Amino acid sequence: MRLQGKVALVTGSGQGIGRAIALKLAREGARVVVEEREDGNQAHETLALIRAAGSDGVVVAGDIADAAADRQVIARAVEAMGRVDILVNNAGIEKRAPFVEVTEEDYDAVMGVNLRGAFFATQAFALHVRERNEGGVVVNVSSVHEELPFPHFASYAASKGGLKMLMRNLAIELAPLGIRVNNIAPGAVQTPINAALMAQPEKLKALLANIPLKRLGTPEDVANAAAFLASDEAAYVTGTTLFVDGGLLWNYAEQ
Ligand code: BGC
Repeated sequence: MRLQGKVALVTGSGQGIGRAIALKLAREGARVVVEEREDGNQAHETLALIRAAGSDGVVVAGDIADAAADRQVIARAVEAMGRVDILVNNAGIEKRAPFVEVTEEDYDAVMGVNLRGAFFATQAFALHVRERNEGGVVVNVSSVHEELPFPHFASYAASKGGLKMLMRNLAIELAPLGIRVNNIAPGAVQTPINAALMAQPEKLKALLANIPLKRLGTPEDVANAAAFLASDEAAYVTGTTLFVDGGLLWNYAEQ
């Protein structure tokens, strides 16, 4: 158990990759703050799974895109658990549209959760860590699209590219506080964000043809990477991105 005695906060952990990360960190001994926009069934289901895995935690709800809500989320987590050692900025959304049709509303929604949310949640976390003075870890769930263009998802790709530079910047700026900051870049993973894709056999087949390991990732594949980055095994790792993509990013073959 690599995270015994630690407290982790995972944003968007009511489903998908976030839920798998919350569970994995719990199995490694961490108590987990399950953060979701709504204090609803999904978040409480994750908490029940954490308890069934032998750990404990709490549900804290708040709109991560709102900086004031982020400060409240951290404050309520600290109130309930005594401290937060690990922040996983996992909450993310995507909206498909040709670039010329993207609305301001959709742009703001995507940038709000994916980039602004990670930015201000990390700021609130860094203030807490500074006060406690015992260091901490930030893991951002980014995407292969922090590097790779994603046509028809311009706002999403821009948000993930932003998350890459935020991570690099903060790795330097927060190092004096003993905070390591890294990204995980998943490829195509079996989660609700990909529900539409998984329901279209032709599209799925075309995608799988581009993945050297010839399968979609599982939320657990990503969670394993998160546990490593959150643990002291990664004590000398900061400012980097760990790709968990079955080789999707660097796939090139002459036909
Ligand atoms: C997106 C998925 C997409 C995958 C691979 C992820 O970041 O959320 O919709 O299938 O990248 O392109």
